[in-house]
Amino acid sequence: MPSTLRFMEAPPRHGEPALPQAVFEGLSRRPRSLPCRFFYDEIGSALFERICRLPEYYPTRTERALLERYADEIVDAAAAAPPTATGFGGPLSLIELGSGSSGKTRLLIEAALRRQEWLHYVPIDISGEFLKESAQVLRADYPDLSVTALAAEYRDALRLLPPADGPRLFVFLGSNIGNFEAGAAVDLLRDLRGKMAAQDRLLVGVDLVKSRHVLEAAYNDAAGVTEAFNKNLLARINREMGADFDLDLWEHRAPWVEQASRIEMWLVSRCDQVVTLPAQAAGGGGPRHFAFRRGEGIHTENSHKYTPEAFGSLCRAAGLNIRRSWADGRDWFGAFLLEPGGTTA
Ligand code: AVI
Repeated sequence: MPSTLRFMEAPPRHGEPALPQAVFEGLSRRPRSLPCRFFYDEIGSALFERICRLPEYYPTRTERALLERYADEIVDAAAAAPPTATGFGGPLSLIELGSGSSGKTRLLIEAALRRQEWLHYVPIDISGEFLKESAQVLRADYPDLSVTALAAEYRDALRLLPPADGPRLFVFLGSNIGNFEAGAAVDLLRDLRGKMAAQDRLLVGVDLVKSRHVLEAAYNDAAGVTEAFNKNLLARINREMGADFDLDLWEHRAPWVEQASRIEMWLVSRCDQVVTLPAQAAGGGGPRHFAFRRGEGIHTENSHKYTPEAFGSLCRAAGLNIRRSWADGRDWFGAFLLEPGGTTA
C-alpha cells in the first residue's frame, strides 16, 4: 500500500452556536457561563500548549509516559480482536478524535508500524490548517503511513469515515472527555459505539480522581499560564466582538468541587462593573450592557475527574465495556481500552 495523504473538510451539520450567540446567551443566564470550546483560538491554543508543559499540569506528561510504556501492549490488544464477518482480517487502522499535532499518537503509530507493514491513520480535528500541516509532517516522517485527515466537528467527521478492511482503534486522548458534562460524554461515546464493529476498540485517556492539592495546583499554576488561558476568553470577546472587558478586573479561580468530581474554572468580578458589547456585535438595536456585582462569576470550564468505577458506568451507559486499562504508578491517569458491549440504554 503506497503512502497517501488525503484531506477532507466537512461543513458543520451539528453546528453549535457561534461566538456572538453563545456570549449573549451565556452572559444572560444565571450563573453566567461561556462555553469552553471558545478557549481555543490561535492565542488560546498556544497557551494550552504551554499549560501542557507546566510542572504542575501532570495530565499530559503522565499520559505520555503511559503510552511510552504500554503503546505496544495497547496496539497488540486492539489488533488481536477476533476478525468478524464484516472485518476481513486486514491490518489495524487508527482513528483519532481531536488529534491536534498528533504528538502522543506517534507512540501508537510507531507501535502499530512495528506490528504491521503499513498503517492507515485518520486524524480528526476542527482546526483545518493545523490538521493539514500536522498530517504532512507525519507522512514525511513515516513512509509507511497513509493519512486521511478529516477537518470537522467530531460528529460530522464520523459520517465521513473511510470503509475499514480490518480492526480499527479509535483514540480519544488528553482527558478531553473530562470537559464534557456526563450526559454529553455518554452521547459522544454512544455515537462512537454506533460506528464500531465488534472487532473495533476505543482508547480513552482519562484523568483520575486524586488529592485536592494536586488537582488545584494543576489548574492554578504559579506562572499564571492557566489564568492567562482563562482570561483569553474575555480578550477574545474584546477582539472579535469589540467588547470592553478590563482583564485586570477579573480573577481566575479553579477550585476542586468534590461533590461534582470536577475542577471548575471561573472568572470572578473584582468589583461592581458594567461590560458593554457594541451595537453591531449585539445584532443591531443598540449596545448591550451586562452588569456584574463584585464576587459574581462567569463559569468557563468543567474538567471532570473519574474513578475507574465511575468511568466504567459512563461507558456502560453508552454500550461500551472496559476490556483493559493501564494506569501510572500513582493512579493519576488512566488509559481505558473499550469494546462494544450490549445494547445502549
Ligand atoms: C483540554 N482539557 C482536557 C484541559 C483540562 O485539563 O481540562 C483544558 C484545561 N483547562 C485548564 N487547563 C487545561
